[in-house]
Amino acid sequence: MGATFATFERLKNKGVSAFKTGEYAVAKTYLVEAAEVLVELAESAKTEELRSQHEEYAAELIDLAKECDRRKGQKGHARTVARERADDEGPDASEWIVSERPDIGYDDVAGMEDVKQEIRLKMIYPFTHPELARRYGVGTGGGVLLYGPPGTGKTMMAKATAHELDATFFVISPAQIMSKWVGEAEQNVRKLFEAAKSQDKSVIFIDEVEALVPRRRSEGSTVMQRVVPQILQELEGFDRAADRALLFIGATNKPWMLDEAMLRPGRLDTKVYIPLPDAPGRLKLLEMYLASRPVADDVDFGRLCDLLDGYSGADIKGIASQAATRPFLESVTGGEPRAITMSDVLEVLEATPPSVRASDLVRYEKFAGSGE
Ligand SMILES: Nc1ncnc2c1ncn2[C@@H]1O[C@H](COP(=O)(O)OP(=O)(O)OP(=O)(O)O)[C@@H](O)[C@H]1O
Ligand SMILES: [Mg+2]
Repeated sequence: MGATFATFERLKNKGVSAFKTGEYAVAKTYLVEAAEVLVELAESAKTEELRSQHEEYAAELIDLAKECDRRKGQKGHARTVARERADDEGPDASEWIVSERPDIGYDDVAGMEDVKQEIRLKMIYPFTHPELARRYGVGTGGGVLLYGPPGTGKTMMAKATAHELDATFFVISPAQIMSKWVGEAEQNVRKLFEAAKSQDKSVIFIDEVEALVPRRRSEGSTVMQRVVPQILQELEGFDRAADRALLFIGATNKPWMLDEAMLRPGRLDTKVYIPLPDAPGRLKLLEMYLASRPVADDVDFGRLCDLLDGYSGADIKGIASQAATRPFLESVTGGEPRAITMSDVLEVLEATPPSVRASDLVRYEKFAGSGE
């Protein structure tokens, strides 16, 4: 949108001169930003030629940014910018694959007991009880789409599922494909799926999965047009690895923007609605985020729970931490440390409307009602 060639040049020049003086951390930041601007420019490029020129150049900048990482570790002196082409399968390939072993489990996710149970049944038990699953003809693997309003714990739920399975968690973010991975997106997607398949148990998580499949293909960037079919193909290959737990989770807060292709059998074929927290969920959230701080006796959790109807988990977390800042500020400015009171919370609450509008909720429920 706001990207201009001048912005790009400014960022690139800053990046290159920082590189020359050996300030690799700074250089990397500018180079990545410059590449991002280029990607944006590429998307709005008037001709195909210009577009691919921009994309290629962006890829070169990203290479240079990666070089910054390598050199940061070496503490060497500044060298010339001349880019020695590192061997393609270099050791840094792994740095593009984001994987982790999440340490949050289902107990850390408030509410959604039915959702947890559904995922346990469809995704976890078949792997933890393979003989029984075989006996009853229950299949393993496949994909789940978690959809629902923002801030309801979808990302958290995906991580917690990996934890419950004791699996390695791999993340694909379309935003990352667009910026970091430009120029080598296909290669990286392949590497990521290979890495996931080499583990006993993995969860591949695609956040903002709606961004992955532009509805009108003509509008999508060329990167996505190449990468999306590849991801779909990799997903199909999932089932074949029958003995290993390979689970695929997508999350979105705009399910109506998803491409039908993504929802086909073998892909994200199980749709799970992650709604705003219900009353028990809200109470648990208050326990997690408010009761874990010093609170006064006058704090009425039942009443707060009612008042917070319509708020998301992220909203409630935010309100609790804002309520804590008042007594905290008082105490750092010399006041006697005191507990968080009901009025601290109420004041924040009054100033904070729910982040999800009722009209949006209707859209989610409509989507929930269609499909299945
Ligand atoms: N059910 C929940 N239990 C505990 N914490 C929650 C819950 N829902 C939200 N939160 C808190 O809110 C933060 C945001 O949640 P998360 O990122 O998982 O939401 P999301 O549904 O993925 O949102 P988005 O659609 O915007 O990506 C979490 O880091 C967590 O701290
Ligand atoms: Mg999320």
